[in-house]
Amino acid sequence: MNTVAKPATRSTDQPVDRPADSRAAKEQLRVVIVGHVDHGKSTLVGRLFHDTGMLPDGKYEAIEEMCRRRGMPFEWAFLMDSLKAERDQGVTIDTSQIWFRQGEREYVLIDAPGHREFIRNMVTGASNADAALLLIDADQGVRGQSRHHGYLLQLLGVHQVAVVVNKMDLIGYDEARFREIEREYRAYLEGIDIVPTCVIPISARDGDNIAAPSNKLGWHSGPTVLEALAGFVPPAENDDAPLRLPLQDVYKFDDRRIFAGRIESGRFSVGDELLFSPSNRTAHVASIEAWGTTAPITRASAGASVGFTLDEQIFVERGEVASLVEDAPIETDVFHVRLFWLSDRTLAPGDTLTLKIGPATVRATIEQIERVIDVDALTERSADHIKRDEIADIIVRTAQLVAIDSHQDLPRTGRVVFTDRHETLGGGVVSMEHYPDQREIVTVRATNVTAEAHRVTTPQRIERNSHNPGVLWFTGLSGSGKSTLAMALEQQLFDQGYQVYVLDGDNVRGGLNANLGFSPEDRAENIRRVGEVAALLAGAGIIVITAFISPYRADRERARAAAGDGFHEIYIEADLETCEARDPKGLYKRARSGEIAEFTGISAPYEAPAKPDLVIDTAAHDIDACIEQLAAYVGEKFQRNGG
Ligand code: ADX
Repeated sequence: MNTVAKPATRSTDQPVDRPADSRAAKEQLRVVIVGHVDHGKSTLVGRLFHDTGMLPDGKYEAIEEMCRRRGMPFEWAFLMDSLKAERDQGVTIDTSQIWFRQGEREYVLIDAPGHREFIRNMVTGASNADAALLLIDADQGVRGQSRHHGYLLQLLGVHQVAVVVNKMDLIGYDEARFREIEREYRAYLEGIDIVPTCVIPISARDGDNIAAPSNKLGWHSGPTVLEALAGFVPPAENDDAPLRLPLQDVYKFDDRRIFAGRIESGRFSVGDELLFSPSNRTAHVASIEAWGTTAPITRASAGASVGFTLDEQIFVERGEVASLVEDAPIETDVFHVRLFWLSDRTLAPGDTLTLKIGPATVRATIEQIERVIDVDALTERSADHIKRDEIADIIVRTAQLVAIDSHQDLPRTGRVVFTDRHETLGGGVVSMEHYPDQREIVTVRATNVTAEAHRVTTPQRIERNSHNPGVLWFTGLSGSGKSTLAMALEQQLFDQGYQVYVLDGDNVRGGLNANLGFSPEDRAENIRRVGEVAALLAGAGIIVITAFISPYRADRERARAAAGDGFHEIYIEADLETCEARDPKGLYKRARSGEIAEFTGISAPYEAPAKPDLVIDTAAHDIDACIEQLAAYVGEKFQRNGG
């Protein structure tokens, strides 16, 4: 016996750690066993253990005896249950993990008792799997749930999948039927970009093609289940990925603080400068503390639960993510989630829930349902709510900036869970498509600066100009009429004696922002600078009119914060169809033909204001009417001393 049979369990929210008493294996591979409850998962695992000689002594015989006494055939599921029960000590569990070793490799077989538990464990990260064995019942063929399982694996980034067609004994080891199932399921998997590593006909009950090739399935030239496991490629060294260490706890001892968490990816050493997100604070690692050892540790890597101290006292809390400075997580308050909704209550835009990102918790609002996906037909539809067991793409806005990753880049920190008082309502994977990383925008690098006070005061400027200063922030699609209205309004206000100046997108992009393009990050920086310039000009006593698409809500809110009280968000509203019909610069046409990428409204998002101070509907009114409306608004809001 070259292995430890070690069923071990844990609750879903706990990080996965190697069992303390397992001898270090060279590599670990986590394999999730996916399939309908009746398709023979326990039998497969039981057989695998038995046929590779990994069962504890006397175990098989004990179950055999029990089944004999009850007058029933040998039941493999009892064997697995008894192994689990010994480890569970009566605790109810919803994920089972069974460790076993083959040569240099340690396998963790992850089993979920039911379909919903499987989804829950997968989306909550309880089952971080590197590969999957996907079971299909030969007698029943490909069912909806088999497709669902394949889809989930694809979505959660488990791309190594061995398909196992079980119960071949029930169909007389018939190759033709097997080929039919194989063809059908391969075609489905192909549709979702999964190429299975192999499709294996087996009979778990009889031990056919489990650890040794079966005579009855002589026509199968592919691997056995054991060979399929050996053929899985171990995860790319997680150690080499960017460091992500979400803080689980901060312990205070005297004046020392020990920060504790589990390294989800990457590694770090004593002396490294760590960046904490979203607070954006940095400090160097003074020491790494490990539980149960007094030997000094100077480095730690993925999978380890560690404590560490810093060289200076900075305030960081549970939920912050430590990274290296040069490879930081994304900071954002808006992102897409491909969601699995598990709750009986329906989810609709505007709903606000608690969102968990690792140990961090934040309030989050469902801003939009982009589509609901039909996993069977692989089609999508629009919807105004999401029902239990549906999969949907949604846009989520959090109350504060959060530290997060795209699931595609870093699966472990690119996952979120919706909860309500400890109940998991749903979960999903994060994508940042078309949204900016806001980190650069909120990072302050200037140090040792002290603001100087002006001697000319704001009231003096108001006195001189005979009107209040402020910012009229126009936002809307390209072609909605922002520039046209801004210039006409400027003319009219100037003629009436106002100190007024327009900052226009195309103009500012010719100078101050000539180094910025139209990527989400560049647009955010564009608006940050314009927001600051507008605030400066308003500080000089001027009425500033800005004409920028400014597609992101967060950017406009920052512009509002920079300008303070005199900020007015004015939505220059025209629907996409109208703007496209106008197409004053011919840009929509070029965007449609693919000549211009990331064009707002076509291939880049526009987030309309939630609560604008004024809406000008340019699709319904002509320019004169719009200007009249704007001038009336200015007359009301910018009178001297507000009144
Ligand atoms: S913003 O999104 O960063 O606020 P801004 O208002 O400065 O955009 O610039 C928009 C103007 O740039 C448009 O009116 C259009 O003339 C031009 N433009 C060029 N490329 C794009 C693009 N990909 N998306 C939107 N506008 C573009």
